[in-house]
Amino acid sequence: MPNGVKRVLISREEIHRRIQELGRQLSRDYAGRNLLLLGVLKGAVVFLVDLARAIDLPLQMDFMAVSSYGASTQSSGVVRILKDLDAAVEGRDILVVEDIIDTGLTLRYILDNLAMRNPASVKVCALLVKGKARPDGIKADYVGFEIPDEFVVGYGLDYAELYRNLPFIAVLEGE
Ligand code: IMP
Ligand code: MG
Repeated sequence: MPNGVKRVLISREEIHRRIQELGRQLSRDYAGRNLLLLGVLKGAVVFLVDLARAIDLPLQMDFMAVSSYGASTQSSGVVRILKDLDAAVEGRDILVVEDIIDTGLTLRYILDNLAMRNPASVKVCALLVKGKARPDGIKADYVGFEIPDEFVVGYGLDYAELYRNLPFIAVLEGE
């Protein structure tokens, strides 16, 4: 087990299987549409590249970077755009790809921001969703896994920018 990691929560095989399922579902749901995968940097990158290869449709990718946590494990509720999309999204069918929805504050901010740019549709695909109530009832349209309310790392998710390269989702020691 890598330093600081307590236990594996979701194995690489489980992640792989679930992404193939999501890919098949998205391939059906977005057939004939104008799909744009919008990755939220940096956490969603690992998930996005695997998900994209499981979708059997023409699609494009773009990325947006926002900051909400700094180096802490608690959501500050303050969201800033660090990098905006490269291209206009008017008329596009946007699928926001997120690593994890915790408080939902980051997603709320992104969805409000995208709504002003006249896309054809906006949906959300999150690899992980923490099982807890969210103030405005915000939720993802496609969910990889529901997990307990613990801080997790791996498969794109970091703690102080580390652990993103773990091929599984794990719980840190001291959590
Ligand atoms: P939210 O705004 O509270 O929903 O948090 C969303 C962002 O915080 C995610 O995109 C992650 O980058 C980060 N985050 C939330 N929970 C975790 C976690 O358990 N591990 C690592 N990063 C997390
Ligand atoms: Mg992060």
